[in-house]
Amino acid sequence: MSSSVPKRIGRYDLVTPMLPCKDEILQRFERFLMSGQYILGEEVRLLEEKLAEECGVPAAVGVASGSSALFLALSVAGVRPGDEVITTPYTFDATMEAIILLDAVPVFVDIKPQDLNLDSGLLADAITPKTRAFLPVPIFGAPCDMDPIMAVAAEHGIQVIADMAQAWGTFYDGRPIGSYARMSTLSFYPTKNLPGIGDGGMIFCRSAEDAELIRRIRGHLPVRMNGHLYTGWNSRLDEVQAMVIRIRRERFAAEQADRDKVAEIYDGYIPATNRLQTPNGGRGMKVTYHQYWVRCRNRDDLRMLLDREGIDTGVYYDPPLHHHELAVYCRTSGSMAEAERAGREVLTLPIHAALPFADAHRIGALVGQFLEQEAASTSA
Ligand SMILES: Cc1ncc(COP(=O)(O)O)c(C=O)c1O
Repeated sequence: MSSSVPKRIGRYDLVTPMLPCKDEILQRFERFLMSGQYILGEEVRLLEEKLAEECGVPAAVGVASGSSALFLALSVAGVRPGDEVITTPYTFDATMEAIILLDAVPVFVDIKPQDLNLDSGLLADAITPKTRAFLPVPIFGAPCDMDPIMAVAAEHGIQVIADMAQAWGTFYDGRPIGSYARMSTLSFYPTKNLPGIGDGGMIFCRSAEDAELIRRIRGHLPVRMNGHLYTGWNSRLDEVQAMVIRIRRERFAAEQADRDKVAEIYDGYIPATNRLQTPNGGRGMKVTYHQYWVRCRNRDDLRMLLDREGIDTGVYYDPPLHHHELAVYCRTSGSMAEAERAGREVLTLPIHAALPFADAHRIGALVGQFLEQEAASTSA
């Protein structure tokens, strides 16, 4: 007997995009198993080379996770106890945790309503003599304002480290987002657009020297930097993860085209003021759509409506990190009004390579109708 109840639409589908890769993964796993080269073998090396090339940087180093990548990049950038790192409060906890683990102070500046990324116009006012680094986060895969960020950093002699955990495939002004900062960190967590089947991360380095320091630290070798002796540690990217990621990378462009199509469908139903607007009117920008978000005043009502229709949605960073329990270790610079508003109003819709376009049309139509009614009731 066939059921007429439509299948629930999940926010992610981690398995379906894996299916075309399954046979190759199993074959390569068997080869790997018999090779005996279980740690830092060919898979990690080839992945590092390929992704560095695609990111437009001379070197990339595979590490244990996106969180480890942040910690190591900030260490190599010379962030020391008491230093300040200016970042966004509208991000995942790991961005803040890595700074706190170094006994440094996360300093939050507010975000822009158009793209939910840190507002580069607020950076200069947040700088103090203790500021060591800027840490922009292209959230949900939308490019940050890299030119203004790099310009303020250069003017004040401050490093930039980018947390591009959610932004593989994102471009700013025609260049991969990971090619701007001194180091940029990536996560291969299974929900990310270029995923592993476990934890993993990578650091993209604009200098071979930084890459060499990270290679030493991730493999238990001590290093001396800026007059300080740092201990090594185990933070290696696993061979099995690297193997799976290399196979998934071959399908990344096709999967991205499917995500782009879903985003285009949603854009057709959702007014521009309720969704992402990229910097420079979108010229030279490429959004990787780790998440697709919509903003509305009655966000929770919209969420309930979609839930009743069998559609899962996401709420992120509500409240933002300056309200986190660890905020006692942080500082804010100015108002956080836009980050708080984003926490209250932003809802993410399902977007992934296996989402049928018909489902995207149904979701887009429901959201568009809700927003229309909301706008009408406001103006009445
Ligand atoms: C913005 C951001 N930074 C850092 C991380 C940490 O990555 P991982 O889970 O690989 O440690 C994540 C993961 O979700 C993230 O979204």
